[in-house]
Amino acid sequence: MSADTALLDQHALARLVDHLVEYGWFVEEDFLDLRLCQALQAEIAVLARKQALSTAGIGRGRRHSLRRDIRGDRIYWLDHGSQAQRHYLAAMEALQHQLNAELYLGLFEFEAHYAHYPPGTFYKTHLDSFEGRSNRVISTVAYLNFHWQPLDGGEMVLFDPDAPASEVARVPPKAGTFACFLAEKVPHEVLPTRQHRASIAGWFRRNASLGGLVDPPH
Ligand code: OGA
Ligand code: MN
Repeated sequence: MSADTALLDQHALARLVDHLVEYGWFVEEDFLDLRLCQALQAEIAVLARKQALSTAGIGRGRRHSLRRDIRGDRIYWLDHGSQAQRHYLAAMEALQHQLNAELYLGLFEFEAHYAHYPPGTFYKTHLDSFEGRSNRVISTVAYLNFHWQPLDGGEMVLFDPDAPASEVARVPPKAGTFACFLAEKVPHEVLPTRQHRASIAGWFRRNASLGGLVDPPH
């Protein structure tokens, strides 16, 4: 993949913004370049083999805790450490510019981690913004699983922000599929998976600095 490849074209970005504005969420299959997904999938497979993934927790700082009854994934924070990551982060930067230009969101940073869900794991219904903080504005998820079958489970379910009991989308984690939604508004969950499941969860943040303290990422 050459460095000048525009990974997300203007039409794709426009569809995303329009749907996000109208519904608060966006999901599309075949949104991401499959060669890029392949490279990202290869990297998370290596990280898993090298046992470089760590158990994911909930909350930040002193509120951080490990809750296997809530989420069972293992993660690795993106660090620009590979060509594939740099391509993906460049695509997210283009998306950040588009969101700021169209929606005046004032997004200033993107943080993201690889996530590996072993068979039998899930992530119970939650919002992505941390208690007392509102700096995660938009959530993103990129899926990296080739050959995903309907019986493999592991769908992400999005719920209606105004009627949290009603499901608005059920997303199989197929390579190329991309989802994004309002982090503070859209409850979502990952249903139990029967196969190894790989994704990249990421968040566009707004600075929630208080008294000169910059809110730390993660
Ligand atoms: C998360 C999350 C969804 C997914 O990491 O907060 O909701 O489908 N991930 O991986
Ligand atoms: Mn989430």
